[in-house]
Amino acid sequence: MTDKKTKVQTDPHVDPSELDNNDSTTIYNTNEKMSAIDLEIQDIDGVGPTTAKKLKEAGIVSVMDLAVTSAEQLAVDINSSKDSAAAFIMAAQKLLRESNVLEKEFVTADFVLEKRKSMLRCSTGSKSLDELLLGGIETQAVTEFYGEFGSGKSQICHTLCAMAKQPINEGGLDGGVIYIDTEGTFRPERLNQIARARGFDPMLVLKNVAICKVYNSSHLELIVKDLGRYINEFNAKLVIIDSIISLHRAEFAGRGTLADRQQRLNSILHKLIRLAEIFNIVIVITNQVQSSPDTFFGDPTKAAGGNVIGHTSTYRIYLRKSGENRIAKMIDSPYHPYSDIRFTVNEKGVDDLEK
Ligand SMILES: Nc1ncnc2c1ncn2[C@@H]1O[C@H](COP(=O)(O)OP(=O)(O)OP(=O)(O)O)[C@@H](O)[C@H]1O
Ligand SMILES: [Mg+2]
Repeated sequence: MTDKKTKVQTDPHVDPSELDNNDSTTIYNTNEKMSAIDLEIQDIDGVGPTTAKKLKEAGIVSVMDLAVTSAEQLAVDINSSKDSAAAFIMAAQKLLRESNVLEKEFVTADFVLEKRKSMLRCSTGSKSLDELLLGGIETQAVTEFYGEFGSGKSQICHTLCAMAKQPINEGGLDGGVIYIDTEGTFRPERLNQIARARGFDPMLVLKNVAICKVYNSSHLELIVKDLGRYINEFNAKLVIIDSIISLHRAEFAGRGTLADRQQRLNSILHKLIRLAEIFNIVIVITNQVQSSPDTFFGDPTKAAGGNVIGHTSTYRIYLRKSGENRIAKMIDSPYHPYSDIRFTVNEKGVDDLEK
């Protein structure tokens, strides 16, 4: 019995049928907070062996996978009505709440404040950029960097890869990185240079980053769908998607396909938000810009992807070139002041300007 339990705790993909039910209930009949890995799909109300099998075939192997999926997607995957798909998802979330993995549906603000204390911040490598973000990039949120080519989006991503491995008290997240590269611009040599220039062990940093090169929008959708599993596998505390829009933008070009594109982006982004909150991880996405010709005053560039990305990312930062330097401006945030700062790109990745 002990062997089976140990296996469940270390391997989220273990076949639930390997456990007899008495064993599993003894694990959960406690009010202590437990990790989501301790829970089995079959412990969810209304999920029997047949449904569990269907879910597994659809790639949903843990309660967490089920809790973060969307009803529309699940209905298609397991060939059920949207209502019963939604009921499974809600039952999964209920089980997570009862096991104290997820917070209750309604909680008082002091509890939320307490929960935000478990939030971590990852340093960007530049003090001024960190100040703009009030201490670094937050977990439990999706942070979007957008700007024209060469504005420093991918440089920020590379620098974050080096920072995330560092201990928490040194501005890192002490965790793994998943880098989803849709533009083919990830360069291990550059990461190596940044790590070296910052005095980190480059080998440790490189080994800590799992790269996934993505070639088309369906591939990206598939990877995001299974992201929960990869986060567990790589013990990731930081997920980067550089960029969120390029593939969808290229493939869904005409006006007629716009609604479809937006709906697909919408489901990716909502999944990302749920993952960030549930796993307490940092999610960074980059976005391109488009020119808006109807602007008479001020800067005519705006983020691509329309309202879908704008409304879903928690924080949006606009990057601009300014001579040799870069300007970062907080565009949208529930609580940051809308200020701007300057930073530079050098061998350390993104860095502060020399005084
Ligand atoms: N090793 C380096 N040292 C100094 N500056 C560098 C170095 N590597 C890259 N840069 C600067 O970073 C710029 C590229 O920035 P980055 O790749 O982040 O652009 P981006 O915003 O991701 O653009 P795109 O939209 O094309 O992906 C280069 O133009 C260069 O100015
Ligand atoms: Mg780039």
